[in-house]
Amino acid sequence: MSKTLIVYGSTTGNTEAVSDDIAKILEKNGHSVKIQSAAEVKIDGMAEGFDAVFLGCSTWGDDEIELQDDFIPVFDDLDKAGLKDKKVAVFGCGDSAYEYFCGAVDVIEEKSEQLGAVLLGDSLKIDGDPDADEITSWTEAVMTKM
Ligand SMILES: Cc1cc2nc3c(=O)[nH]c(=O)nc-3n(C[C@H](O)[C@H](O)[C@H](O)COP(=O)(O)O)c2cc1C
Repeated sequence: MSKTLIVYGSTTGNTEAVSDDIAKILEKNGHSVKIQSAAEVKIDGMAEGFDAVFLGCSTWGDDEIELQDDFIPVFDDLDKAGLKDKKVAVFGCGDSAYEYFCGAVDVIEEKSEQLGAVLLGDSLKIDGDPDADEITSWTEAVMTKM
């Protein structure tokens, strides 16, 4: 069973709610979970001691990709998190009416890969209100790779 860390950035609570749902599913399947808001996480060596790290962030901005405010310093210092060879899953909430639907998820995924993380399959991009079935099936798929 894996020791997992979930770090999320969420302004209106959607990505936070998704993080809680993911945590419950992981715990139900025997994994241990530490869940932290991006506003409170200590980025230096963040991933140390964990087998898998889940990064969740909503997308803001209009004609460019803006990460959720609390997640910006985490993203900027992601090279200090110790993601090399670490299993990483990325998720976030957005709205497909915007040009860059869940653009934050894409840039976090790309940077994690550049830093040597091993991505646990496709990311989860939630359009509008979080959907329980979508979260469950994605988390179950991720767990098969943990
Ligand atoms: C001003 C504004 C800009 C937004 N820009 C984007 C965007 O570029 N891409 C996207 O997918 N969603 C965008 N959204 C939608 C939010 O990401 C969405 O409401 C999300 O559920 C918020 O998640 P949170 O509550 O976890 O912060 C935007 C919303 C607002 C109000």
